[in-house]
Amino acid sequence: MSGSSKPAAAAKQALLKVFSGETLATPPIWLMRQAGRYLPEYREVRAKAGAFLDLCFNPELATEVTLQPIRRYGFDAAIIFSDILVVPWALGQPVRFVEGEGPRLDPVTTAEAVAGLRLEGLTERLAPVYEAVARTRAALPRETALIGFCGAPWTVATYMVAGQGTTDQAPARLWAYRDRAGFQKLIDLLVEASVEHLSAQIEAGADVVQIFDTWAGSLPDSEFETWSVVPTRRIVEGLRAIGIDTPIIGFPRGAGNRGGDYVRTTGVDAIGCDTAMSHSTMQELATIAAVQGKLDPLLLVAGGTALDREIDLTIEAMANHRFIFNLGHGIVPQTPPEHVKQLVDRVRRGGGRHV
Ligand code: CP3
Repeated sequence: MSGSSKPAAAAKQALLKVFSGETLATPPIWLMRQAGRYLPEYREVRAKAGAFLDLCFNPELATEVTLQPIRRYGFDAAIIFSDILVVPWALGQPVRFVEGEGPRLDPVTTAEAVAGLRLEGLTERLAPVYEAVARTRAALPRETALIGFCGAPWTVATYMVAGQGTTDQAPARLWAYRDRAGFQKLIDLLVEASVEHLSAQIEAGADVVQIFDTWAGSLPDSEFETWSVVPTRRIVEGLRAIGIDTPIIGFPRGAGNRGGDYVRTTGVDAIGCDTAMSHSTMQELATIAAVQGKLDPLLLVAGGTALDREIDLTIEAMANHRFIFNLGHGIVPQTPPEHVKQLVDRVRRGGGRHV
């Protein structure tokens, strides 16, 4: 497979080249949470917008903050500024973000409560997100890919059930053990909602989509298959069934040695790797999919030679593989913006190999 056979492909985005099987001398780079509180210009817009969800649902401001890291660093991809929890909100579950604490939702803990949520009208309620996607695509340079996203059903469910972030996802895990049929209803609803939300972002102009399964790692094997892999496969199949061939990145954080099964069963085009994933596992995965990751976000806080060293190790290990440079999880707020510049410059120079 090669993108070179396509006509007028001169401006083909680096990210899309990796999906069509090319290995690039310089890997494309973007970073999870590249728009966010570590940037002073983000904090300024955020203060103006008021509540976090108000920013997400303001197409003009959401577009502006999506573009901020592209202007500063020239990343190969922008990711639309939004959140995985806009989906439960659009299903009718009250969601708010408490300053300094994180998301708070009115917990959904029974099949009856799931029946009270409504899928109908979801894309109308999320129209501001699609407008932001369209505006951002129009404003981006052609060579910059635009990434749309959703949370994987399992990860979104962990917040819907607990009503907040948890360290061990215990409420969702316990519901799934005690009442499989009831919990399945929630997952089924989220599969359908995710297909609608992703296809609407693609229609509005997203070139690639990513499915964030941040809490996949808290599931034992058989549960991982049931609640992470199968729902993700259903989303991929749902998109393909309506004729969408847009590349899909799956990010099953903490999947460990189950990454190969995840790729093969879900049919995703790329797998996002977390910080714990070894380079040798990433090399193996690169034989069946594109691979993205996995720098420790804390190295971006530390900077200096520790950052340089790890960049070089990854570049060297992933040379001649289908690779997209990224972090193993999102940028943290205390990251100095100049360390992000150090990272981008070094990746673009090919690490420390230059003379
Ligand atoms: O730049 C980007 O990556 C795009 C925007 C984006 C956000 N959240 C913005 C955000 C994306 C892709 C997400 C995904 C997301 N949201 C995930 C999956 C990835 C991950 O980080 O694990 C999850 C679990 C959420 C839910 C969520 N949103 C939590 C738990 C929190 C609170 C913790 C925190 O970092 O504050 C949020 C808030 C949030 N989402 C912020 C941003 C920039 C910070 C809000 C602020 O400005 O006050």
